This record gives sequence, C-alpha cells and structure tokens, in this order.
Amino acid sequence: MDTSTIVILDFGSQYTQLIARRIREFNVFSVVLPCTAPLEQVKALNPKGVILSGGPCSVYDTDAPDADEGVLAMGVPVLGICYGLQFIVHHLGGKVVGAAAREYGHAEVTVVAETPLFRGLPGTLDVWMSHGDEAEALPVGFQLTAKTSNAVAGIADDARRIWAVQFHPEVAHTRQGMELLKNFCLDICGAEQDWTPEHFIQSTVERVRAQVGTGHAICGLSGGVDSSVAAVLVARAIGDRLTCIFVNNGVLRKDEFLKVQTTMREQLGLKVVAVDSSQRFLEKLAGVTDPERKRKVIGNEFIAVFDDEAKKIWESSVAGAEEIAWLVQGTLYPDVIESSSVHGPSHTIKSHHNVGGLPADMKLKLIEPLRDLFKDEVRRIGRDLGMPEEIIERQPFPGPGLAVRILGEVTAERVAMLQEADQIVVDEIKKAGLYRKVWQSFAVLLPVKSVGVMGDQRTYANTCAVRAVESEDGMTADWAPLPYEVLRTISSRIVSEVRGINRVVYDITSKPPGTIEWE
Ligand code: XMP
Repeated sequence: MDTSTIVILDFGSQYTQLIARRIREFNVFSVVLPCTAPLEQVKALNPKGVILSGGPCSVYDTDAPDADEGVLAMGVPVLGICYGLQFIVHHLGGKVVGAAAREYGHAEVTVVAETPLFRGLPGTLDVWMSHGDEAEALPVGFQLTAKTSNAVAGIADDARRIWAVQFHPEVAHTRQGMELLKNFCLDICGAEQDWTPEHFIQSTVERVRAQVGTGHAICGLSGGVDSSVAAVLVARAIGDRLTCIFVNNGVLRKDEFLKVQTTMREQLGLKVVAVDSSQRFLEKLAGVTDPERKRKVIGNEFIAVFDDEAKKIWESSVAGAEEIAWLVQGTLYPDVIESSSVHGPSHTIKSHHNVGGLPADMKLKLIEPLRDLFKDEVRRIGRDLGMPEEIIERQPFPGPGLAVRILGEVTAERVAMLQEADQIVVDEIKKAGLYRKVWQSFAVLLPVKSVGVMGDQRTYANTCAVRAVESEDGMTADWAPLPYEVLRTISSRIVSEVRGINRVVYDITSKPPGTIEWE
C-alpha cells in the first residue's frame, strides 16, 4: 500500500511533533525528519508536500539549523511555519530582521490576499505567535497574504507553490489552525486521508508476517498499553509463534502479576510465560539507594531473566529447529524522532531502561510495530484491535516500577506498604472519575518518619506522598488540582488502612523543575 506522506523538516521547535500529530488526526500520514536530512532521503519518501517547522534560532545565528534548499524546488508544495517562513525568505532572496516588537502568545492576523491556504477561513485569524525575527522584504514572486499590526504573518508564491505563515497553526490556541493544515495537506498537496487504524493494522500485519517468515518471536509484556498493543499486532501476524514473557520484578503494583496474566491470556488470547522473579530482583536491590543504580540493577536483572526464559522457550519449543530470532518492542515514534533530532538525542535526565540499548550478545532482530505511532494513535489502534479499555487507558507506569517510588532502600516490606497506599490512590481517583483526566496518579513512600497520634497512642511511622499530574506527553507536567474531598479520602484511608504510614502529603511541584517520578 502506498500511503500519502507529508514530510515535516524539524528545525528544532518544541511544536514539531505536534504538527505531525495534528496532520495524522485527519488521517494523513506525516513523517518528521531532522532539517539536516539529505534531499535524497526526503525525495525517497515521495512526499505529497513538505512542511518546514519552527525553531528556536534566528537564521543569522552561526549555528542556525539549515536544510538543503533543494526542498524548495522539489516540485511539491511547501509550507513554512515560523522559522520555516524565515528560512524561505532568507534562502530565496528576501530579508529577515530582528523584530522591533517580538510577538509571543495570542495575536490577531488580518488576511490581506486570497490564497488557497486560507480558503474558507475568516478574514481575521486568532493565532498563536512565538517569534523574535520577522520578514522585512519578501523574495521576488512572493506576495503578502496576512499581517498582524506589527509584522508579516503570511506569504505565498502560488506559482512556485510555496506558502508560509509566521504563526503556529499546529497549536490549539490557533483557532483556525486545523483548517489551515487541512487546506495545505488535502487541497493543496492532494494527500489522501488513508492513514486509518484499519490501514495501519492491515499493512503492519502483512509486513510483520513477511519479515518473520516461519520464525518465532518473543515479546516482553509490562501490562502497559504499548507492549500489549505491539504483542496483539504481532500475534495477529504470526499467531502462536509469538511467545510473551511477563516478569514479576518484585516492584509491580498490588495483584498486578496475576491480573495482567489473566487479561493477556483470557481477553487477548496471547501465549504468555509468566515468571515470578521477585525474590531475585529484591535480593539484587538490597542496600541500593541511588535512583540510577536502582534502574540499572532492575534493567540488567530484567535482561538476564528475559534471556534465561527465551532460552528455555527455545529449548522446549515444539518447532525445535526454529530459532527464536525476533524480539518485539513497543518503541514509539517520539523515541525515534528524539534519537534523530537536529540536536541529537536530548540530554538524558533519567535513564529509561526500556528505551536504552539491548546487550550486544542478545542476537535477536527487532520488530517494532509501533515505531511510526504517537501514544494517542497506539490507543486508537488498540481500540480497533478490540482490546479492553482497562488496558488502553492505563496510566503510564515506569519500567522500574515501585522501586523509583520508594525513596531509599527497596525492601519487601516497603514494597508491600507502598502497594497498599498506591491501590488506595488509584481506587479513589477512579471513583472520582479522574483516572483518565490525570496523566498519572500514584503514591510515593518517603524515607521520613514522623510523630503522630492514633487513638491514645503516639506513633512514629512513615510518610507517604501523593502525586497526581496533568500532562500531554509526560515531557512537561503540572500538578493536578485534585478536589479537597478526594485528597481527604485518600489521606484518611491511607493512614487508617496502611500499617506503617501515619502521614500523607500532597506534591505540588510541576515539571519542570520537578520530574513526575520522585527518582
Ligand atoms: P519523569 O519522572 O522523568 O517521567 O518526569 C516522565 C515519564 O516517564 C516515566 N518514567 C519511566 N518510564 N522507565 C520507564 O519505562 C523509567 O525508568 C522511567 N522513569 C520515568 C514516568 O512514569 C513518566 O510517565
């Protein structure tokens, strides 16, 4: 199947991924490439159109991100956004200058010329701006299509089929942004709206089937949406030649080990080998208090267990001679983009072990059926595959599990304590109808004891922090303003039901400067 593709060249804007997501929302496939991508790579995708993203630099900065200006002469329509507009002006002989008045936030734009990009839009657009430079002189052949009271807001060369806007159509604050992107992708570029869940499922199943041939694959399940959707997709392609491995690392949530197994086997029909290695993990974690060390211990141990199990499966495999040659991973598109972005992979703030490298001696080839998808698309696919909402809407849970929510040493006793508290938080958030509204909600066990009084007894016990955040993608987050009633119930239930905790605090730190997890 030949999917219509829009290529987005990334000049480093924080909104670049958003452009891709918006376009995919109306079922057009879009790909983000670093602006430095060779022209041949862009051409090889046979795009229907090219979008040049915004970026944090000025075209005059010495390290300003640049692209091959051949993209402007490929013969397919081009849309420049913000820095993209300045790139076009700069490269085609116009002039960009530092703006007298920088524009950030809401702005009103007046449309001053008819152009297919603005077809059907009102004469005044309500937009989001974020720029310090502006176009002063337009290249030959270009006309002004829109302006703010201060500056150029839109330009076009209808003959060369190049359009550009100074504002950001991809952000929700630009009211007519979706219409504008549709005008570009559908009317101007003539892209087909063929990026649908059915299309994705069908083409992925075909591709995986061809890739794996008669081979066998294994997949590590975490119980979360990504690995589950990846497994279900691959199982559609190769049936019971896929074996899933689900490891109890000792830091799962309460009853999770059993619940996940039941769902995966009974509701999703997956072949699951469940391995209870909690003892082994907890022994390795004894005495470890450093957060990064905990992640490494769990990551290494996970790979060791996984390797052992894969060998066992292979040895007892009915196919015998058929080696397990494939490993299924739930890698998503943001990880793929991130690792090839203009500035290279961004500075690692925490080592997320499931994204980190696999050991070199594990000679498995990777199948990554979700590597073209954003999280919201994974959910759409999961729904289309008939997966239960309980999995699709599950809040993210870190690979190292409760270990990074137990500050200080992780012991069986502290895990049990946190499991109880965590269960209460999740229960109450669900009861209040907030589970899907917040990005994550959980409890953290602090290495702090304080004095309390229960009945007539003085207590000296542990402190638990409750964390609930709102976020779009986990990159930035704000603490959730949970209703006092919900906080009150959570707090009183934890203190009265969880032995060992006598104080509950609410974390009111946003990200940045905090992170979502405490470790
Ligand atoms: P932070 O704490 O960095 O978390 O703000 C951002 C998102 O990533 C999740 N997270 C992890 N996920 N392995 C994972 O699979 C990890 O080591 C890890 N650390 C954080 C976190 O739950 C949040 O959704």
